[in-house]
Amino acid sequence: MRDAAPETVYLKDYKPFGYVVDSVHLTFDLAPNATRVTSRIAFSPNPEAEDRTFFLFGEKLKLIRATIDGKDITPEITPEGLTAAAPDAPFIWEAEVEIDPAGNTALEGLYMSNGMYCTQCEAEGFRKITYYPDRPDVMSVFTVRINGDLPVLLSNGNPTGQGEGWAEWHDPWPKPSYLFALVAGDLVATEDSFPTISGQEVALKLWVRPGDEHKTAFGMEALKKSMKWDEDSYGREYDLKVFNIVAVDDFNMGAMENKGLNIFNSSCVLASPDTSTDMNFERIEAIIAHEYFHNWTGDRITCRDWFQLCLKEGLTVFRDSQFTADMRSAPVKRIHDVIDLRTRQFPEDNGPLSHPVRPESFQEINNFYTATVYEKGAEVIGMLKRLVGDAAYAEALDLYFARHDGQACTIEDWLKVFEDVTGRDLTQFKRWYSQSGTPRVKVTEDWADGTYTLSFEQTTLPTPGQPEKLPQVLPIAVGLIGPNGDELLETTVLEMTEAKQSFSFDGLPARPVPSILRGFSAPVILERESTNSERAFLLAHDTDPFNRWEAGRALAQDTLLKMATGTTDPDADYLDGLRALMRDETLDPAYRALMLGLPGQAELAGLLADRGVTPDPMAIWQAVEHLRDAQAQALGPLLEELYEANQVTDPYQPDAEQSGKRALAGALLRLITRRDGGARASALYAAADNMTLTLTALSCLLQAGQGGAELAAFYDKWKDDRLVIDKWFMLQIAEAAPERAVSVAQALTEHPDFNWRNPNRFRAVFGALSANHAGFHDATGAGYQLLADWLIRLDPLNPQTTARMCTAFQTWKRYDPARQAKIAVELDRIATTPDLSRDTSEMISRIRG
Ligand code: ARG
Ligand code: ZN
Repeated sequence: MRDAAPETVYLKDYKPFGYVVDSVHLTFDLAPNATRVTSRIAFSPNPEAEDRTFFLFGEKLKLIRATIDGKDITPEITPEGLTAAAPDAPFIWEAEVEIDPAGNTALEGLYMSNGMYCTQCEAEGFRKITYYPDRPDVMSVFTVRINGDLPVLLSNGNPTGQGEGWAEWHDPWPKPSYLFALVAGDLVATEDSFPTISGQEVALKLWVRPGDEHKTAFGMEALKKSMKWDEDSYGREYDLKVFNIVAVDDFNMGAMENKGLNIFNSSCVLASPDTSTDMNFERIEAIIAHEYFHNWTGDRITCRDWFQLCLKEGLTVFRDSQFTADMRSAPVKRIHDVIDLRTRQFPEDNGPLSHPVRPESFQEINNFYTATVYEKGAEVIGMLKRLVGDAAYAEALDLYFARHDGQACTIEDWLKVFEDVTGRDLTQFKRWYSQSGTPRVKVTEDWADGTYTLSFEQTTLPTPGQPEKLPQVLPIAVGLIGPNGDELLETTVLEMTEAKQSFSFDGLPARPVPSILRGFSAPVILERESTNSERAFLLAHDTDPFNRWEAGRALAQDTLLKMATGTTDPDADYLDGLRALMRDETLDPAYRALMLGLPGQAELAGLLADRGVTPDPMAIWQAVEHLRDAQAQALGPLLEELYEANQVTDPYQPDAEQSGKRALAGALLRLITRRDGGARASALYAAADNMTLTLTALSCLLQAGQGGAELAAFYDKWKDDRLVIDKWFMLQIAEAAPERAVSVAQALTEHPDFNWRNPNRFRAVFGALSANHAGFHDATGAGYQLLADWLIRLDPLNPQTTARMCTAFQTWKRYDPARQAKIAVELDRIATTPDLSRDTSEMISRIRG
């Protein structure tokens, strides 16, 4: 019924709830198909609100009884919740509901995963647990009693009592319902402790299913580093006696920052050298930090409504990036983040799903946990910091924590602390939150009488709902380099506020080469006429590590775009520059590994479309293959030399130094495999004693069309490890040649281990298929059809993961009419599926346009 005409929620309609919640007592009587939830909630009229409608959200709940001040009532119930007549005075609400955790396949609310009870309440999952004003601006103190015949019973806050079959928890910090959590199961903990800066001892526990204990050590270390870093860098101390982390196998997203009880997708916390790659370790360290940092930026200060999601997510992503930069290499982290932004956020910002960092409307909020809210949201904070400077940033953050602790805030509150600290007017800056689309910045230059002038022009193309765009504030970091390679102007931040603006530099001895947008100082698309010899010059001389990498990237991109649309040979400047860099022993191996990287094929397709050329996925694939061969050719014997020089001989550590060497050696091995027919990759597979090397070897072999025996052996060895088997599924599709990708994926969906209800497994297959650009866009349309078949199948069970996977189609308008027609058929087929979820129907209708 509801799904026939999904309702749209608007930011402008915000109204506070008519009541405040003074306290919440919950009792859970656990049973897989019939859990009883008893709630006792103290309400009183909210002086800030006019409307006293007493509406409580509640979905898929069986109401057993409800009372107000002890008197039975009969509320009016709809699929969204209930309305009752409530007094205009303090009162006690009591209700008992029954829910079905075992039947909850959507993994939202209270559900079961491998015999374990767990919760996911953000954004609107609590309403599937009991009737409640399930909105982030209603904060309260929760006391929870869990009755259940299971060894471990956890909830938020501090433990206050436990016995055979029961436990009680009390969280003294007022919180919104989306931060509620409960876990119950047969779990084992790895324990440690952390002394906070003021001397409070915090018990740390990382809970896993028996058998996974050997994968907890790294996560625990990452947690302690995060706690220390947040004290040192932001002055933020932890505030409970315990901090619990739980690993759950079935989880829609990465992890969740529930107060004192973080719940993680097991893929984002469990790690061991045997089963995890260097990249997994780095990501796990960052996610543990992210969720921990939410304790202040998210939990102590939360969001007034879901439109403000970036208030906590953009800031927390920014904080976790700073953390990774401090723990590892700052330039390498910056480059990784920009690659990620261009891969995930730019296509979103420049396609049918484009939305502002702070959206103004939604049908299903789960569809707005996006790269724009998270990653662009973090970029916006980076720009703010660049504009006000490090000292003012630190002061503004102190003020933010002091002023807003315990509150549910808005972007206005956030910007106000910066205005108060710096005296700046951030009215124009705020457009970063309201205007969608990636600004494009055209650069021209002028040189006369020792004066060099850079002129910039910014434009943002129309996006859905926003035909007109206004100029944004752009911090543009520039440096100038003299003809001999010396830096004439050190990094200087130009503040662009107009649609067109020029900046002059005088007293220069010679016409400089500009290094623009150093450190990727604003998330924009830079458009500047440049020559390959100038790019090669920057590749050799730029002192800014990001722009040096960017120069190499621009060379590679330019040559690939030409190769994909004609029959040109790979550019010699690029290959010469690459060779020189590879030999440069002063450069960190991780950085050199990045230098060997090429823009992704989907990114190249986007760049072609931007230039008015219809991308041909096969031609792009061939151009990349051709350039890879040319790299292998150009580097010649240097490949083997560097490969040997970058072997790690010490015992395995997932740290930046060793990971960097393995990343470089791995990238080299891919090229070597093009020359030696897989001999070295086979040797590596046989000798590898950690997952990073094993997967490097296996992917080289698969790419060379070999590796059948190794793949079978790998499966045999790891068949009982779900996370490793996810890699086994993913790798075969990722490395399949374009013409085989769909059939490989299709065959894997028939494998007995294709447990498609598990989001990690579903994503392993379909995430890999949609990332295999030429494979997914196979001209027959078979890739589109296979994905649509499975989206239709998954939607009734798990709308959230289905809707997320629909993004594979978001760039469809780039392609030729034949492909577009085939995609349109699939989009329509999904859209007309009976009882389609609100999540998926919103996504498909936005994508369809
Ligand atoms: N707050 C979590 C994080 O970023 C993400 C939770 C997303 N959940 C969802 N159902 N959309 O750390
Ligand atoms: Zn987050």
